[in-house]
Amino acid sequence: MSKVIYITGGTKGIGYGIAEVLLKNGHKVAISGRKQEDVEKAVAELSKISGDIFGVSSDVRKFEDEQNAIQKITGNFGKVDAVIANAGLGIFGSVDELSLEDWNAMIETNLTGCFHTLKASVGELKKTEGYYITIASLAGTNFFENGAGYNASKFGVVGFTQAAMIDLRKYNIKASTIMPGSVATYFNGNIPSDKDDWKIQPEDIGNLILDMLNMNPRILPSKIEIRPSQVRK
Ligand SMILES: NC(=O)c1ccc[n+]([C@@H]2O[C@H](COP(=O)([O-])OP(=O)(O)OC[C@H]3O[C@@H](n4cnc5c(N)ncnc54)[C@H](OP(=O)(O)O)[C@@H]3O)[C@@H](O)[C@H]2O)c1
Repeated sequence: MSKVIYITGGTKGIGYGIAEVLLKNGHKVAISGRKQEDVEKAVAELSKISGDIFGVSSDVRKFEDEQNAIQKITGNFGKVDAVIANAGLGIFGSVDELSLEDWNAMIETNLTGCFHTLKASVGELKKTEGYYITIASLAGTNFFENGAGYNASKFGVVGFTQAAMIDLRKYNIKASTIMPGSVATYFNGNIPSDKDDWKIQPEDIGNLILDMLNMNPRILPSKIEIRPSQVRK
């Protein structure tokens, strides 16, 4: 059955790849990004797959933006069945040199953004007995050099989603966190190319989410680690 799915940060990378897969499989998809023009560009491309695509500009750091996004999406599609809190960024450097600005950018986008998106959408998810999925990272369980800010934000996302899963289960809302290893995207200034062939591809995360949406309502994969099967070339 066709579902309505909101993906934060769907203008490129993982979010865009998830949108492609869900549209190809007959779902209705809304994506967001910070700039209206970037959202419109992505929507124009995605509409070549299906007309069931809707774009909203929203900065997940601002709760009012997410409230507004949910209002527009329900106005357009009538409901929200699943929300994928994907928007995020990584800035890497030794903790003694990490700026307040970079720390705040990661915590406010990666972690507080997930809370804003849930808080804005949970009323709709209660109505549909829907699904809330966060895109965390293996950096949410493995810490590494130069990762203090990013690790802190993603460990936070994993803890947040797991606790939310327990709170939301009583409403028949599922909550899961996906913890990917390297994915071929624009993350941290990367430009996807042949050199990224060994990595997880955005469509792989899309297919995983499709499987999760199709799972029997009685089961809940609450925390999913996913990594490239080959080592870096
Ligand atoms: N790539 C990897 O190896 C990898 C591995 C594990 C986890 N992840 C996680 O996957 C998620 C997606 O990253 P990606 O790899 O797809 O990177 P990406 O290609 O750089 O895409 C990031 C997306 O997030 C959006 N975004 C950033 N800040 C935002 C904000 N404040 N409000 C709304 N949207 C915002 C961007 O949209 P605009 O620029 O248009 O605003 C863009 O659509 C992130 O949470 C990242 O931490 C990535």
